[in-house]
Amino acid sequence: MRKRIVAGNWKMNKDFQDAEDLMFEIADELADKGSGETEVIVCTPYVYLEMSSDIAAENGFMVGAQNLSQWESGAYTGEISASMIHSMGISHCILGHSERRSYFGENDKIISAKVDLALKNNIIPIYCCGEVLAERQAEKHFDIVRTQITEALFHLGKEAVSEVIIAYEPVWAIGTGVTATSAQAQEMHAFIRSLLTEKYGSDVSEEISILYGGSCNAKNAAELFANPDVDGGLIGGASLIAADFVTIVNSFR
Ligand code: 13P
Repeated sequence: MRKRIVAGNWKMNKDFQDAEDLMFEIADELADKGSGETEVIVCTPYVYLEMSSDIAAENGFMVGAQNLSQWESGAYTGEISASMIHSMGISHCILGHSERRSYFGENDKIISAKVDLALKNNIIPIYCCGEVLAERQAEKHFDIVRTQITEALFHLGKEAVSEVIIAYEPVWAIGTGVTATSAQAQEMHAFIRSLLTEKYGSDVSEEISILYGGSCNAKNAAELFANPDVDGGLIGGASLIAADFVTIVNSFR
């Protein structure tokens, strides 16, 4: 059985005190409502990783980073390496987010190097893929996602790729309030799983969790998560409100 996962991506939000308060609120909500079988990961800004992972560890959930350097170590001022993140006890890291691709020029080659460094340092990548609106309108979305999956992941062996969590995040749905329909999400998730089956066989593809991201909220999560190939969500805005986030965690039927 593959894992059900709900991960929050706080992006560049919250000052320290608000971040600490939100971590405690999430812990309280989880204690109240439970999380069933769902794995809960909160991806906080680097500077809060220590604070947030301490709180998460005491309350039965996990913390991830939002990025890591494409380089191993050395003279890269301002960069944070995979081994640094691992040495802080952090288990997960978002990689290939569309905001990194578009604002920081990350391409599949760079992201692929980051995936390798994450795995080498025992960090589980949450690998994001997804098309922009013009690509969907031109009916190129399957080609785009195929290329993103192939170029960043398909050099991995079966064992390594089995560690990866994939997040399908159509860029037109991120932070826009426009969600992919349940059918659009299922269609793309099934397509991604078929690519994984073709390359690695169904024993591997059936074990990889594929999350949906893009305006997923407390109201629409249940419908999205009801799809057979949607194994959870990567949540932006709604992960900043503890009650909504934990409602999403409990949206599996
Ligand atoms: P929103 O949930 O705010 O649309 O963001 C999605 C996202 O980018 C998660 O990584």
